[in-house]
Formats: sequence, C-alpha cells, structure tokens
Amino acid sequence: MATILLINGPNLNLLGIRETTIYGSLTLDNITQQVSELVTEQGHQLESYQSNHEGGIIDRIHQAREEGVAIILINPAGFTHTSVAIRDALLAVSIPFIEIHLSDPKTREKFRHVSYFSDIAVEVFSGQGPDSYINAAKTAIKRLNH
Ligand code: DQA
Repeated sequence: MATILLINGPNLNLLGIRETTIYGSLTLDNITQQVSELVTEQGHQLESYQSNHEGGIIDRIHQAREEGVAIILINPAGFTHTSVAIRDALLAVSIPFIEIHLSDPKTREKFRHVSYFSDIAVEVFSGQGPDSYINAAKTAIKRLNH
C-alpha cells in the first residue's frame, strides 16, 4: 500500500463559492472524497493538505519525504505562476508529482500561461474541472501498480 499526497494551494478552500463559472460548484471536500475513494479502492491511501501559505506547502512537501509518500498530486493554484520555492521543494525531495488545474490556465489571462511546475511534472491535467483530479489520481495509481 502506497501513500499518495494531494496538495491544494491558496483559495482552493473556497471551491464551491469561488468564481463558480470557472471552478464549478463542487467543494474541495467533495473532490477530495472522490479522489480518496478511488485511491482506497485500488488499495492505496490518500493524505490531503490545503494551505493558503507558501511556507506551509513547502513544509508539507518536506514532511512527505520523511513519510515516504510515493507520489504527490498538486494544484498549486496561484503559486503555479509565481513559486520558485515550491518548485525547488518538489525537486529537493525527489518525489514524482502530477500538476492539476480545474481550469485551463493557458486559455486565461497571460500571467497564467507560465507554470513553474509543468516542465518537471510527470503529467499535467488541466481544464477538466474535477475530472482533472480524478484523471491525475488514475495516472498516479497506474504508475504505482506498475
Ligand atoms: C487553478 C488555476 C490558477 O491560475 C488559479 O490561480 C487557481 C486555480 C485551477 O485549478 O484552475 O487558483 O490552479
């Protein structure tokens, strides 16, 4: 049994309320529950963490190394387009990760076109709403079961 860590960045705690035409009406708990069921059905376990703080996310990534987390699923949210430090943390722990976005940042404002994560991610799922999370989890499970 492996541990998959799901990390959600800033403002994702407001899913279901926040800009619903872009991000949909499901809450983060709804989405996490779906991902957790999928992971558990496949004999693995899901840990989840949300923070509005860059340092909190970095500390959680460091902790993941000590815990032997097998793979990280991360929606860095606004930090996608700004955070060298979270990118460095992921590289530092050498845990493979999958980047997730509900929307497709590449079709939105120009400042969202840059990701500090995509070039080092195992895979990127974006623009599929909650299915971005589901498809990322399926890819992680496939990788673990190989
Ligand atoms: C997001 C896209 C980001 O540009 C934005 O800052 C978010 C959410 C997404 O899931 O579509 O907060 O990561």
